[in-house]
Amino acid sequence: MIRAACGLHGLFITLEGGEGAGKSVQLEALAAELSGQGREVVTTREPGGTPLGERLREILLGLDSDLDPLAEAMLFAAARAELVTAVIKPALDLGDFVICDRYSDSTVAYQGYASGVDLMSIGQLNQIATGGLISDLTVLLDLPVEEGLRRSGGADRFESEDAAFHERVRAGYLALAEYDTERWLVVDATQPPETVTATILERVEALL
Ligand code: TYD
Repeated sequence: MIRAACGLHGLFITLEGGEGAGKSVQLEALAAELSGQGREVVTTREPGGTPLGERLREILLGLDSDLDPLAEAMLFAAARAELVTAVIKPALDLGDFVICDRYSDSTVAYQGYASGVDLMSIGQLNQIATGGLISDLTVLLDLPVEEGLRRSGGADRFESEDAAFHERVRAGYLALAEYDTERWLVVDATQPPETVTATILERVEALL
C-alpha cells in the first residue's frame, strides 16, 4: 500500500457516501477553504475526470445500460486507472492536495457489498487500477437511505436501484469505515453543510 502523504506527496482526500449525501457540496467547500489557505488544490471525480473516464461515466450511469456487475466493476477500474495516471499521481507528485469525489471504496460498496461481486476480486482490481495508491483521508458522508434518495431524485442507473440495494451500499461503507478508523472519518450528513465541512477540516488540520 502506498499512502499518498509519504515522501514529497501532497494530501489525497476522497469523499464517499450513498446517493444525495452532499459530496459535491463538500468537495467545493473543502477546495475553497484549502485554496484560501494558499494550497494548490486539484478536484476531480469518479467515474470521470479524464476524457476516457467521462465517456465511461456515460455508459456506467446510462439508464439504457444493463451491465454484468463484474464487467461494471472493471469499467470503473479502467476509469480509475486513467484518472490515477493522468491526474491524481501527477498532482500529488507536485505536492498538491487532491480531493476526489469517490474512489476505490465506491467499487467495494456498490459492486461488492451491493451487487455481490466478491470482495477479493474487487480488491485485486482496485490494486491494479491504483497501483496501490490509497487516500490519506476518506470521508464517509453518512445518511439514512430514504433521506439520500429523496434528496437525489433518482435520475441515473444507480439512483434508480431499490432501497435494499442502497441499504447494502450504506452497510458496506460503514463496515469499511469501522475496519480502518485511521483512514476513515464518518460524518453525519444530516447535519448542516457548514457543520459537516468544519468537521472534515478539523480532521484535515490534524493530518497536516
Ligand atoms: P456520483 O457522480 O457520485 O453520483 P451522485 O452525485 O448521484 O452520488 O457517482 C456516480 C454513481 O456511480 C453513483 O451512483 C455511484 C456509482 N459508482 C459505483 O457504483 N462504483 C464506483 O466505483 C464509482 C466510482 C461510482
